[in-house]
Amino acid sequence: VVLVVDFGAQYAQLIARRVREARIYSEIVPSTMPVSEMLAKNPKAIILSGGPSSVYAEGAPAIDRALFEAGVPVFGMCYGFQIMATTLGGTVDDNGAREYGRTPLKVTRSGSTLFEGTPDEQSVWMSHGDACSAAPEGFTVTASTDVVPVAAFENDEKKLYGVQYHPEVLHSTHGQQVLEHFLYRGAGIEPTWTTGNVIEEQVALIREQVGDKRAICGLSGGVDSAVAAALVQRAIGDQLTCVYVDHGLMRKGETEQVQKDFVAATGARLVVVDAEKRFLDALAGVSDPETKRKIIGREFIRVFEQAQLEILQEDGPEVAFLVQGTLYPDVVESGGGTGTANIKSHHNVGGLPDDIEFELVEPLRQLFKDEVRMVGQELGLPEEIVQRQPFPGPGLGIRIVGEVTKERLDLLRDADAIAREELSAAGLDREIWQCPVVLLADVRSVGVQGDGRTYGHPIVLRPVSSEDAMTADWTRMPYEVLAKISTRITNEVKDVNRVVLDVTSKPPGTIEWE
Ligand code: XMP
Repeated sequence: VVLVVDFGAQYAQLIARRVREARIYSEIVPSTMPVSEMLAKNPKAIILSGGPSSVYAEGAPAIDRALFEAGVPVFGMCYGFQIMATTLGGTVDDNGAREYGRTPLKVTRSGSTLFEGTPDEQSVWMSHGDACSAAPEGFTVTASTDVVPVAAFENDEKKLYGVQYHPEVLHSTHGQQVLEHFLYRGAGIEPTWTTGNVIEEQVALIREQVGDKRAICGLSGGVDSAVAAALVQRAIGDQLTCVYVDHGLMRKGETEQVQKDFVAATGARLVVVDAEKRFLDALAGVSDPETKRKIIGREFIRVFEQAQLEILQEDGPEVAFLVQGTLYPDVVESGGGTGTANIKSHHNVGGLPDDIEFELVEPLRQLFKDEVRMVGQELGLPEEIVQRQPFPGPGLGIRIVGEVTKERLDLLRDADAIAREELSAAGLDREIWQCPVVLLADVRSVGVQGDGRTYGHPIVLRPVSSEDAMTADWTRMPYEVLAKISTRITNEVKDVNRVVLDVTSKPPGTIEWE
């Protein structure tokens, strides 16, 4: 394992992903972890991430010198570079030598371990206030910029390396190469980690964990739960029962996708609970978004628990495990412990009821989303499931502004299916993070169709580009595609006479309308 020590910036996850792109397994640890604990993990190398602090700020995170004396190769980036410099006796000045953004870097030692085979001048991404003016003893300076005399240093003998910039971001043109040079050449690690190994390893672990007991898994139709279920099914076969609650708020074809395609691809044992009526009854007369979310979340848990109880009562070995599609970013973020404001009450499939005790099986805990997709692909899941864009647990229930009724759901399903079809046909599925299609059920506007006046509802298209859904921008998509979607929706969907485009970024708007 390669450890990425997180100094509290948003960069650590990106670094960990880049290491894995170099086919080496990586994990993130907080900078507050004692060095002895880090070393106990037997890391083949350690990377110190960037961070928001100045090394001179009060309470700035520090690192124990022992880390550099353990014989483990270390690579410091940005804040990690500066902390390395100051800890080992180099000089960092807070003299206002700032650099932000794209900066030309001059490589002063082209044959160096980090920069071998990269151009003498390359563009890198900087983001720092303080600057290193003298490298620690025993280090060679290998790059500089107009502002910073020491922008990279290396000590091959001790296997210690550092760069002032952020090699993990794409704006640093040779960043991945430099990182790989550290990993392969500096630290001498063989790139052997693949998602194929993950499957093998997880199958063995799951078999060991579950033994001859049984497990259940809630399927949402989303990528994560589907891949988690498929992986567990591969390990324990019919000892796993999957539960899919059809709440009637899914998009066109999605329930069928789970019922047919998922089962066909995996052979999993699936229980489908048809709960449409129950959800629609519970939602009748409700327009307030948070109330809708709470109702959907509550009903979901009830139906899911009921299904669990029925499975628990079946003859057979004890049902002792609940499978969840928890991903690595969730693990890292919940470990971070910084509370974020509750903007919307998110609900996730398989939310654990307090009074039923299961042990969790979370085979995707080590993986990033793109890796989960690769695992899904290798497990033979259909493209429609593996490449599926994010879709909220409460489904179309929070894409109807106003009361949710069957009729309105059907209307929205038709409009949404058209938008999805045209976006796919235009090859935009990868470029667009997701495109909620929203029905403004309480709004009517006047239109003219054929020879007559209409008084119908608007449909909102909300295509967004994002990396993690925390922030997003509206996608500048081609007018022709918008025109086609608009024409088709107004022609084909009853009661819709207007299509509008949402051109708000997040913030201030959220991605969903409710
Ligand atoms: P917002 O609207 O908060 O959405 O900008 C951010 C991302 O989260 C998805 N989303 C949800 N996902 N349960 C989920 O599993 C939910 O209750 C939920 N609400 C929003 C949304 O589609 C976007 O990807």
